[in-house]
Amino acid sequence: MPVSHTKTKSTTSSDTPENGSNKRIFTGIKPSGSPHIGNYLSAIKPCIDLQTQYDTFIFIPDLHALTTVRNAEEMRTNVIDVALDLLALGLDPQKATFFRQSDLPEHSELSWILSCITPFGVMERAHAWKDSLANHLKDPTVGLFTYPVLMAADILLYQSDLVPVGKDQKQHVEIARDIAIKFNGLFGETFKLPTEMTPPEVATIIGTDGQHKMSKSYNNTLQLFADSATLKRQIMGIPTDSTPLESPKNPDTDAVFKLYSYLATPAELANLRDRYLAGGFGYGDAKKLLLAKFEEYFGPAREKRIELANDLGYLEDILKEGAGKARITAQKTLATVKKAVGLVF
Ligand code: ADP
Ligand code: TRP
Repeated sequence: MPVSHTKTKSTTSSDTPENGSNKRIFTGIKPSGSPHIGNYLSAIKPCIDLQTQYDTFIFIPDLHALTTVRNAEEMRTNVIDVALDLLALGLDPQKATFFRQSDLPEHSELSWILSCITPFGVMERAHAWKDSLANHLKDPTVGLFTYPVLMAADILLYQSDLVPVGKDQKQHVEIARDIAIKFNGLFGETFKLPTEMTPPEVATIIGTDGQHKMSKSYNNTLQLFADSATLKRQIMGIPTDSTPLESPKNPDTDAVFKLYSYLATPAELANLRDRYLAGGFGYGDAKKLLLAKFEEYFGPAREKRIELANDLGYLEDILKEGAGKARITAQKTLATVKKAVGLVF
């Protein structure tokens, strides 16, 4: 996994993509707890892998995190943590524009304008909102209800083409596209229409309970930066069936095999499949292999993160500089929008 980048600063400050690509890829990783391999494979990795090919924007949606985080210190720590995570995983601020949402008031301003043309029923039909209600969320707020509008503002403000997200966020990108179509129809061509980027093989990464999607809220995650003891506990605790050690095992119904498949090479996976089918190979052995694979895969990033955490001033500089770059596009789009709706004289 590529993790190297230097501490030199980018000097580019225009709306022109630094790598010459005319396609913009855009995603956000909410500062609401340690990232897990579900977040990594569906949202973080695609952006990092494509940062040299596409004009890439990655941001930290801290305004979105306000729907759940109610403590200033926790919010500040979460933002620093997610920034360190992304940089350690290989986000290169020289190549991608990396910034924090709350540094740009343009997100909130566009969100209000879009909320005035978004039908109430569309918000009511959003899966994430319906799930929150179905799960008897104690304190459903207006912010949570209109969350998809703010997300649409994030995406449309940067005239994004592709938005890497997991399956649970796919509908929100569709909503952003619908809002863009409606706005363009009412006020003239203003926004590019974004498309979600959700490769089926990583759309829903299974959790360590082997049943639900991996999620912080289900407490079934493999956290990328957990300490070794926690990681070991998480992997050794994955439930398996009661097939005896000597008998053949079905790799296709086993969560350990599934989780290994996300990180292994095709040859390593074929090898593990053969061992399952041959018998005489226990689930404990498979878990040890998964643990070793995880440490091999994320080891360099885990070390890099420790190094980066020693210089938080550098981190703040990167985010401020990223905000400066993002602002150029954000202000340009917002000016066009305000003119289109008649808020500029
Ligand atoms: P969580 O459900 O753990 O709170 P987030 O809501 O912070 O995760 O999601 C951040 C990104 O990771 C989103 O694009 C989301 O779709 C993606 N994601 C979250 N969980 C999974 C999963 N189990 N499989 C694939 N993608 C996921
Ligand atoms: N809603 C996303 C999540 O919960 C985070 C997010 C906010 C986002 N704005 C975005 C993702 C824009 C992609 C594009 O994970």
